[in-house]
Amino acid sequence: MSMARRALACCLLLAKPDRCGAECAVDLLQRKLDLELSAPSVPHVLMIVADDLGWADLRSRRRAETAQEAQGWAETHTPNLDKLRAEGVSLERHYTTSSSPPSRCSLWSGRLPTHVTHGDLSVNHQMLWNKKDNNSGFDGIPRGMTGLGTKLKEAGYETHYVGKWDAGWATPEHTPLGRGFDSFLGFLQAENDYWSKDRGPLKYLLDICLNKFKDFSFYNATYRGGVTAQMSTELGCNATLMRGKPFTPMGCDMDNRSECLPETCYEEAMFLQHAKRIVQNHDKTKPLFLTFAHHLPHSPVSVPWSYMKKLEELVVATGVPHTVPWTTKRKIHAASLLYLDAMVGDLVQTFQESKACTRTRCWSSCLTTALQRICVRAPTTTR
Ligand SMILES: *[C@@H]1O[C@H](CO)[C@@H](O)[C@H](O)[C@H]1NC(C)=O
Ligand SMILES: *[C@@H]1O[C@H](CO)[C@@H](O)[C@H](O)[C@H]1NC(C)=O
Ligand SMILES: *[C@@H]1O[C@H](CO)[C@@H](O)[C@H](O)[C@H]1NC(C)=O
Ligand SMILES: *[C@@H]1O[C@H](CO)[C@@H](O)[C@H](O)[C@H]1NC(C)=O
Repeated sequence: MSMARRALACCLLLAKPDRCGAECAVDLLQRKLDLELSAPSVPHVLMIVADDLGWADLRSRRRAETAQEAQGWAETHTPNLDKLRAEGVSLERHYTTSSSPPSRCSLWSGRLPTHVTHGDLSVNHQMLWNKKDNNSGFDGIPRGMTGLGTKLKEAGYETHYVGKWDAGWATPEHTPLGRGFDSFLGFLQAENDYWSKDRGPLKYLLDICLNKFKDFSFYNATYRGGVTAQMSTELGCNATLMRGKPFTPMGCDMDNRSECLPETCYEEAMFLQHAKRIVQNHDKTKPLFLTFAHHLPHSPVSVPWSYMKKLEELVVATGVPHTVPWTTKRKIHAASLLYLDAMVGDLVQTFQESKACTRTRCWSSCLTTALQRICVRAPTTTR
């Protein structure tokens, strides 16, 4: 129901006190509201995943009691993440595994990590296939299991996945589209190059067809394949990607460092463009489930040059001296946290602006208005 119609319903109720007094009307309204509010509410859901984010990678976790701690604090800038943490629920005793695939498989499936993955990174067995077991004899969540995407799809959600998957990709059933998502933009395996989007240094096998699939892909109901030059332009990256060439972490050609890609070609920037478009173009009468699974701050950690500069300025402004060598690796890691944080802030803001009038919110604003008016006459009723 639209906000106008809801407001009308409230007003009609208020305008008919003839059959009972004001208190009775309040009572009726109260019961009507209780009834409607106890119906299952359908919130839009934005799920953000950061990969390999350390416990102390949030500034709000940092202490500055020793010189070294002070330096860590000065290098870590995560205002948006800290705000979400302060306003939300922080699970202080939630334990997970130390590598990404088991944690991710567990998060999507709701099962213990050990039940949903077999990956052995050291021997590149990401694609292992036990031919005697075509259900769970692969790496990743067994085919027969459901997950968050499937369940929310069943509940009527529109479901989109952006970013890193890494929860199994041996067969189509293992991929996001096989797991209840309507669309997927991203990469399936554990890591890729943030600039070229090619397989990262570990060169994971992509599939049991031995890399016949591309791994910076877009999948929807009608298109399944690599991100084309046109799609790339639409995602903000209008540049030839110099495929097959190694990049520096700041997006320059390893052989000629004056040849760099524009920052809009950074993988996470392209993901963000896509995610924001999903939120903005979403049909607001349907509930949305959007997963944004950042690659950051996972290896091979890379970051646009402008964030290295911004970070340096923030660190200088703290006035904290470097007692631990302020190495390039430290800087890139810290700058990547700053970038991650800025993206989260941007996406959350887009989400809030676009969802300013969700069904739930419209209802509660109508409810507040109605009760404020009625409460003038019946101050005993509060909610
Ligand atoms: C699993 O699938 C493969 C390929 O389709 C087939 O060769 C094999 O017999 C299947 N295994 C079982 C136990 O069904
Ligand atoms: C799927 O993506 C392609 C390429 O961006 C687009 O042309 C097409 O309209 C999309 N299909 C649906 C059903 O959204
Ligand atoms: C993309 O870049 C090419 C070459 O620089 C230019 O001709 C073209 O207009 C650009 N397209 C868009 C959509 O910006
Ligand atoms: C490196 O790239 C710059 C900018 O594109 C170019 O002017 C220069 O000739 C290149 N140098 C070499 C050695 O290729």
